[in-house]
Amino acid sequence: MNPREIPVGIVGLGLMGCSIVTCLLIAGHPVVAVAPIPVDLEKAGPRIKEHLLNAWQNGLIDNEPEFYLKQLIITEDYSLLEPCKLVNECTIENVDIKNSVYKKVETVISKDAILSSNTSAIPISQLQQLTLYPERFIGLHWTEPAHTTRFLEVICGDATDISKGEYVYELSHLWGKEPILVRKDIAGFITNRLMYAMYREAISLVKMAMRLSRMWTAPAGIMRVTS
Ligand SMILES: NC(=O)c1ccc[n+]([C@@H]2O[C@H](COP(=O)([O-])OP(=O)(O)OC[C@H]3O[C@@H](n4cnc5c(N)ncnc54)[C@H](O)[C@@H]3O)[C@@H](O)[C@H]2O)c1
Repeated sequence: MNPREIPVGIVGLGLMGCSIVTCLLIAGHPVVAVAPIPVDLEKAGPRIKEHLLNAWQNGLIDNEPEFYLKQLIITEDYSLLEPCKLVNECTIENVDIKNSVYKKVETVISKDAILSSNTSAIPISQLQQLTLYPERFIGLHWTEPAHTTRFLEVICGDATDISKGEYVYELSHLWGKEPILVRKDIAGFITNRLMYAMYREAISLVKMAMRLSRMWTAPAGIMRVTS
């Protein structure tokens, strides 16, 4: 696998989209970054350059930003995604918006290109049913900032052809990742499932501490022990 021969498309250039673009450029991919929202079109270039500059100044990459930026196209034109072998949708967590993006992407990419979403919580099995070819659809769940973190989930939905997930799993090693291939689409995937379990535990500890503090500040005669 040679990243230079694998053009990748990103749609949605907010917080995550910009750091994902940075990661893919560092790995050597030609990147087409689609920003249909005018403010993103203005801000994405400087944001990606700043990520690269920070990485360069901290010794994380071998070349100055301009070296990587030669491989980047930022556009509002979906048709430029045509040569991309992998497209990652990175728009806000809204099914209707994601659906409208898939419709536009699928009119231009080839049938064998892989389409993916960076969704944090919407089931991949649900999103893939919005697409023309559900078998080529996967979840590609990054961790912010994508160009400096090592964790990545590659998630297969019920209708995904597992070989597509395996291909991206292998490819992502070239992005500096220690990925996980999630073969079964479970609620919250792995990271968010674990994270919400920790949130629940933290909330329960805070509730317990509040109960104890009420108990200890109550007048002695009405003090009760609660579990
Ligand atoms: N922030 C995180 O740490 C994180 C981590 C993993 C996954 N995610 C997921 O990544 C996705 C993006 O999150 P983010 O944090 O980058 O959010 P963000 O709000 O920073 O970026 C979302 C981008 O989508 C753009 N957008 C809105 N409508 C659009 C449309 N119709 N077409 C194209 N783009 C449109 C917005 O302009 C914005 O730039 C979400 O699905 C989120 O759940 C976020």
